[in-house]
Amino acid sequence: MTSAPAASAATSSVAAETPSVGLIGWRGMVGSVLLQRFVDEGDAAHFDPVFFSTSNAGGPAPTFENLEPQTSELQDAYDIDALRKLPIIVTAQGGDYTKAVYPKLREAGWDGIWIDAASTLRMDGSSIITLDPINRDVIDAGLDAGVKEFIGGNCTVSCMLMGLGGLFKENLVEWGTAMTYQAASGGGAQHMRELLTQFGALSSTVGAELDDPASAILDIDRKVLEAQRTGVDASQFGVPLAGSLIPWIDADLGNGVAKEEWKGGVETNKILGRGDSLAPGVERRGDAIPFDSLCVRVGALRSHSQALTLKLREDLSVGEIESIIDKGTEYSRVIPNEKDATVAGLTPVAATGELTIPVGRIRKLEMGPEYISAFTVGDQLLWGAAEPLRRMLLIAVGKL
Ligand code: HSE
Repeated sequence: MTSAPAASAATSSVAAETPSVGLIGWRGMVGSVLLQRFVDEGDAAHFDPVFFSTSNAGGPAPTFENLEPQTSELQDAYDIDALRKLPIIVTAQGGDYTKAVYPKLREAGWDGIWIDAASTLRMDGSSIITLDPINRDVIDAGLDAGVKEFIGGNCTVSCMLMGLGGLFKENLVEWGTAMTYQAASGGGAQHMRELLTQFGALSSTVGAELDDPASAILDIDRKVLEAQRTGVDASQFGVPLAGSLIPWIDADLGNGVAKEEWKGGVETNKILGRGDSLAPGVERRGDAIPFDSLCVRVGALRSHSQALTLKLREDLSVGEIESIIDKGTEYSRVIPNEKDATVAGLTPVAATGELTIPVGRIRKLEMGPEYISAFTVGDQLLWGAAEPLRRMLLIAVGKL
């Protein structure tokens, strides 16, 4: 970890002292975490929140200590005239909302800054994927050039870069792969509920046997398997996740690649300003780094883990590599590659609710001196979703 970077003079295109900011999707899981971060950090001293709703316009706006709404009534999130009065809009409402509203707003001549958690606009030529501890230079170049779309990255990508960003920033990664272990929260709130319900149902199935120390474990195993195959509700994930895993995340692109895996490569490079999918004004910082993944859903609740294999451009000592990773961002923290430290600090349970991103299991691999392994875990709702948006808003209002 490095010390906190000094606030830079942000290149903001929003002039008002406390500009009005439209908030949409604040009731959902990402939106709720985002609001809590605003409240915790006292961010609303820097902007005036206007709450919108897709389903309850006219209802009461929420009140939070530290986050006084500008209007006591919820505004209609589909009212283009209401939206276009705002210099900045932040949405965690989801991709369908973005698809329905964003083009109409631009057609109506809106010239404000759109900050969005959804993937819809991420790979657009006119957008920047925002992850400022990694790509503040890209964000500033975009703001200078008049870019107005700032989109949060895929959760797995953002968490990976927040952990291992030091190696990427130093241009030390020749290629990489990530084998992911992604939490139920990536699917949404209902998926988390389903996982917990499945755990409960499976446990109940064998409650009597678990209470009896003399019961046969293979009988327990058989009954659990029967319940997994025939008895548990799996309507969200499609197949049981509790006591199992699902080695496919997001759409089937038809070429053997899951959409989540495609995102890993293209978004990593776009964030770093590499390759060809760059917004206007963003100088190309080099060729795309080959980066590929195999993405797996596991029964963790809200932190995504990933095991990485990286080929470095140089033969560095493990100590040098650890130091570069640890200093890579204010939030990266190296966990010594020892059993006790690893099982205590490098798990979803340890990482959830934390802004620090632990990175461990760093060692040289048998393939050669430039090949290393690493394992990292990040809270899918903090750095994976809400925190990059929160910080982009602060950059847009000139406070970060
Ligand atoms: N696509 C991710 C997942 C979540 O399913 O885990 C959001 O980035």
